[in-house]
Formats: sequence, C-alpha cells, structure tokens
Amino acid sequence: MCVKYKVPIVITSLRPPVEVVAAVHGYGGVVFHDVINIRHARKAIDQGVDGIITVCAGAGEHAGTTSPFALVKEVREIFDGTIILSWSMSRGNDALAAQAMGADLAYLGTRFIATKEANAPSAYKEMIVDSAAADIVYTNLFTGVHGSYLKGSISNAGLDPDDLPEGELRTMNFGGGGITKAKAWRDIWGAGQGVGTIDDIPSVADLVERMEAEYRDAATRLCAS
Ligand SMILES: Cc1cc2nc3c(=O)[nH]c(=O)nc-3n(C[C@H](O)[C@H](O)[C@H](O)COP(=O)(O)O)c2cc1C
Repeated sequence: MCVKYKVPIVITSLRPPVEVVAAVHGYGGVVFHDVINIRHARKAIDQGVDGIITVCAGAGEHAGTTSPFALVKEVREIFDGTIILSWSMSRGNDALAAQAMGADLAYLGTRFIATKEANAPSAYKEMIVDSAAADIVYTNLFTGVHGSYLKGSISNAGLDPDDLPEGELRTMNFGGGGITKAKAWRDIWGAGQGVGTIDDIPSVADLVERMEAEYRDAATRLCAS
C-alpha cells in the first residue's frame, strides 16, 4: 500500500529494511530508520536509509538507554544523512538543543498525544498532564522489548509498577501484554519522560505555534549571550 500510494516518508524499525529502501526509493520516497544504538545505525546505513532516528534514553515507548549527546554524535561521525532525535522533548527550545548537538530534526511523540486532535482516550491525555518523569516505567514486560510507560496505567491494569517481572524477547508481541491480560497501547499507555513539562491539552495548531515561539525565543536568547 505504501508503494501504491507513494508514501513520501516511511519510518522503519527493528530489522534492517533493505527491501523497503529499494521499494521506497523506486518512487522517490525516503526511509528513516529507528535505532537505539550505533550497531543498529551502522546496519541501517549500510542498507541505504536516508535518515537515522536516534531513539534515546527517556523517549516514549521503545526507547533505548543511550544519552542523545553520545548517540547523535556517534551517528554523525559516520553518517551524512538526516539525523532525527527522539528524546522526551516537549518544548520548542528542545528542538534547538537537538540541532545544537548535531541532529537535523526533532521527533516528538508524547507531547502530541496530549492534544485535542489525538485519537487517544481522554484519561490517557490527562495522565500525561498529571505525570512527571519519575512516573515513567521502563520495562520489557508488555512487548518483550524495553519501552517507557505511564506508571498510573500499569497500576490501573492491576500490576505493581515497582515490582514488574521481566518480559521475554522471544515472545516479542507488540499487540500483546506479555504475561498480563492488559494490552500495550490499549490499557498500558506509552509515554516519554517529557511528561513532567506537558501541562495542557491544546489544539495541534496552538501547540505548534507556541513551540515555534519557544524555538525562536531560545535562539534569540542564545545569540544575545
Ligand atoms: C504510544 C506510543 C506509540 C509509539 N509507537 C511507535 C511505533 O509504532 N513505531 C515507531 O517507530 N515509534 C513509535 N513510537 C515512538 C515515537 O515515534 C517517538 O520516537 C517517541 O515518541 C519520541 O519520544 P517522546 O514520546 O518522548 O517525544 C511510539 C511512541 C509512543 C508514545
């Protein structure tokens, strides 16, 4: 379907996307690939991806554990293509910081779940607003791969977020809930550590306008200093 409709930007993760790259390049599209470490970045670069998404410590859902200051620079040393930083950002000035460390683009997920247009339950949006970074639990229980989730949603599913069993990579299942009956994405809500500075549920237009102003203010402030 992506080829048929010539989707301009395709995002891939997990396995090296060689056949996806060929298909998407065939109609002039670009492929950005999620990585959590330099080994995966090297593999994807060898396959010819156009961009690397560095999913760093604290990002929403299937994040890595590496600092962006480490991973973005390591990738930049071996790659001239687009680097997209995924990393618990919530404000426009965060995007300027991403550029300063060598990334081309800032990639925000959690911030946009708490918007009027997002197709998420209102309790999910409210829990993002009410949570802080300390309320993010990093566990592999729900899908077999480590990810960041809201503590409150784990408690609501009847589990102790401070005492979760280990999940298993071999039972990797993105729809399932590991050993639990709860389903990741339906009952267990993913979010990054940026929740602590997400305080409202605006429209996307208002949010983008505000972020642009935050970006410009930060740039002006830094140029003046
Ligand atoms: C609920 C949720 C679901 C996500 N699902 C995917 C996904 O299916 N594929 C993917 O590449 N990234 C997925 N992500 C990760 C985002 O694309 C992005 O890397 C991340 O949200 C950025 O961190 P932030 O949420 O702290 O801004 C998901 C993130 C969240 C919060």
